[in-house]
Amino acid sequence: MSETSTDAPAGYTHDSRHLPPSPVSAEELAALHASVLWTEDDAAALRRAGEVLAPQTEAILDVWYGFVAGNPHLVAAFAGADGEPDADYLAAVRKRFGLWITDLCTREHNAQWLAYQEEIALRHTTSKSRTDHVDSPASHVALRDLIALAVPITLTVRPFLEVEGADPAEVEAQHQAWFKAVVLSVALWARPYSPQMW
Ligand code: HEM
Repeated sequence: MSETSTDAPAGYTHDSRHLPPSPVSAEELAALHASVLWTEDDAAALRRAGEVLAPQTEAILDVWYGFVAGNPHLVAAFAGADGEPDADYLAAVRKRFGLWITDLCTREHNAQWLAYQEEIALRHTTSKSRTDHVDSPASHVALRDLIALAVPITLTVRPFLEVEGADPAEVEAQHQAWFKAVVLSVALWARPYSPQMW
């Protein structure tokens, strides 16, 4: 029997019992939380943001995928064996990316979550293209782009938080929490690029 529910997207192993533990310690995670000014209020604001964002997942992904498609240096990461963007690869990743929006907002930062952050880190680096069985000429995602993408991933989400009738102070709290969580994620995903200096 499969260990994940049958409607989980292919390759989405967040809840797998076989996920190796993250090499990042609880102490390192606590220090990173301090570095991004993370508080329990952020966790609560992000959970509320998740309720606003989850129903808009496809529209958010349309914006992000449009941005990637419009930048040749980014879409190159999704090249197939012929060097052209691989539609199946893009579509497979898109399903997991959609779940990530909700996961970012709702998951506890526990050992299982940390383990999946390491898995995502490896998927941008040493195990890129394996999950979707793609013969891609792009061996990894450039670290500089991984870091830089925190900007569009953060700024483009704000209009989706500004739903009709939303209190501006509440939108600001949700957006700041989103920003902190994205930077925290990117910091964790940066680990395999330079484990000695991480
Ligand atoms: C803040 C920056 C970024 C975020 C939040 C992000 C998020 C994600 C997520 C959630 C996934 C799916 C993880 C899973 O398998 O469950 C993914 C995979 C992927 N991302 Fe990113 N990403 C970022 C930066 C980038 C950049 C700059 C590129 C380069 C164009 C990129 C290319 C890819 C590719 C090619 C995959 C599939 C990796 C594989 O083969 O398994 N990502 N990303």
